[in-house]
Amino acid sequence: MSSKLFSPFTLRGLTLPNRIVVSPMCQYSSQDGFVNDWHLVHLGSRAAIAERVQAFADAAQRALKAGFKVVEVHAAHGYLLHEFLSPLSNHRTDQYGGALENRARFLLEVVAAVRKVWPADLPLFVRVSATDWTEGGLTPDEAEHVLRTEQADLVLLARELLRDPYWPLHAADELKENVAWPPQYVRAASSKTPLRENVDYSDLD
Ligand SMILES: Cc1cc2nc3c(=O)[nH]c(=O)nc-3n(C[C@H](O)[C@H](O)[C@H](O)COP(=O)(O)O)c2cc1C
Repeated sequence: MSSKLFSPFTLRGLTLPNRIVVSPMCQYSSQDGFVNDWHLVHLGSRAAIAERVQAFADAAQRALKAGFKVVEVHAAHGYLLHEFLSPLSNHRTDQYGGALENRARFLLEVVAAVRKVWPADLPLFVRVSATDWTEGGLTPDEAEHVLRTEQADLVLLARELLRDPYWPLHAADELKENVAWPPQYVRAASSKTPLRENVDYSDLD
């Protein structure tokens, strides 16, 4: 194997087989076009903040019980933690507003609380909003370049994977990588294609 895109990546006790990640894409909608409790997140009081911190930790615990190996704290896209981070939305005058270190306080409390319940050997991601400077879809060469120049460890794709769910297989073809295919698909693959191993669910409750 020579491409970085299809090389394994280890973070704490988890090793991913390649550097391609499906970016989170919610598939829910408002009911009858109305906003509901989900959307009505707002800047709360101190007590409400402590409650939210605990809620993040509880959610991480549930994710662990359900067998997830990575959790991601969402601090991007205008959601609650992002509203605290951004000076555009955070006009608080208490210790959660003002300088960046104050605006980041809520997020750091959440990360600390989640870390307490999330095993030390498993990765914890934090999603922050950043600018996407690239026009159009990502090509395998661009993804490879980002990894080789160490601008990132992983490449997350969202809309491109909606347009082309087999992007990783096409990318492997373009980068001349002999990656494993699901056994159900292998009759359509070239003769030396290895079979993808099944996910091991045996350590779940
Ligand atoms: C249908 C759809 C749903 C999305 N839902 C989420 C979400 O629930 N959480 C999230 O963090 N990002 C969500 N995103 C944003 C993507 O994860 C990603 O950051 C964004 O689409 C930019 O990446 P892309 O250029 O590869 O599409 C969603 C994107 C799409 C297209």
